[in-house]
Amino acid sequence: MAVGVFDSGIGGLTVLDALQKRLPEVPFVYFGDNAHAPYGVRTHDDIFNLTCAAVERLWAEGCDLVILACNTASAAALKRMQETWLPPNKRVLGVFVPLIEALTERQWGDNSPPREVDVKHVALFATPATVASRAFQRELAFRAIGVDVEAQPCGGVVDAIEQGDEILAEALVRSHVEALKRRMPHPQAAILGCTHYPLMEKTFQEALGPEVKVYSQANLVAESLADYLQRRPEFMGSGTQSKFITTGDAVSVSNKATQFLRKKVTFEAA
Ligand code: DGL
Repeated sequence: MAVGVFDSGIGGLTVLDALQKRLPEVPFVYFGDNAHAPYGVRTHDDIFNLTCAAVERLWAEGCDLVILACNTASAAALKRMQETWLPPNKRVLGVFVPLIEALTERQWGDNSPPREVDVKHVALFATPATVASRAFQRELAFRAIGVDVEAQPCGGVVDAIEQGDEILAEALVRSHVEALKRRMPHPQAAILGCTHYPLMEKTFQEALGPEVKVYSQANLVAESLADYLQRRPEFMGSGTQSKFITTGDAVSVSNKATQFLRKKVTFEAA
C-alpha cells in the first residue's frame, strides 16, 4: 500500500514530510529527478516527458497513486497527463487544487459553479515555467470569480536554496516581493507555489507584511491526500516499503537532502 511522491529534486521533501506526519501508516516512495532539475526553466514538452517517465518508475514500485509534489510539473504537465496519457487504473494528483480549495473555502469535490469569494487580490510566487503555464489562474477560474491574480516568476530562488546560499535566497525573495508589489500594492493573500519556498516563508511574510495571509502547500496537500485515500482506498498501491530514489548521484543527493530537511535521508539510484 505505497503512495508515490514525485519532485524534480529535493524540494518535494517538504511535502513528503507533511504527508508522513499526517499518514504515518502509509509507506511513501519518493522520486527526485535530480539529474534533470531544475524543471522551472524547461519547456512544457520537456517537463511532460520527464514527469511521465518518473511516474512510470513509481508505478514499478507498486504505487498506483502518485502525488506530483512539484508545482512546475503540476502546472505544466498534469492536465495533459490526465487527458492523454494516464491509464484508468492509475491516478496522478497535483498540488494546486488543494491550495485553491483552501483559498476559495471549498470542500473537495464541490463542483458547483464558480462564485464570489472573500479574497480578491492574490499574489502568486512560482518558477518561470509555472507562471507561464497559467495553470493556477485556470484552476482558480473553475472555482471563483472576481479574483485578481498577479504572478511573479521568482528566477534564481530555487538555485540559491539548493546551493545553501541563504543570504542570496533572502535577497532574491525580497526583490521578487518588491517587484510584485509594484504591480499589486496590496495583495490579501500570497501563494508560495514552489516546493522550495516554504523554507523561505518567514522572509516572504516579512517582505509582504503581516496583513497578507501566506498559503504554503505541504499541510493542505497532506490533508487532501488523507481525505482522498479514505474515499478511494483502492488506490493504495501494492508497494510495502518506503524509499527514496533519485536519477542523480545517490550520495550527493542524500547529503543535500539531509541538509535540506535537517534529518537523515538516504537515496538510492533509480
Ligand atoms: N520542484 C519545483 C517546483 O515546485 C521547483 C524546482 C524546479 O524548478 O525544478 O516548482
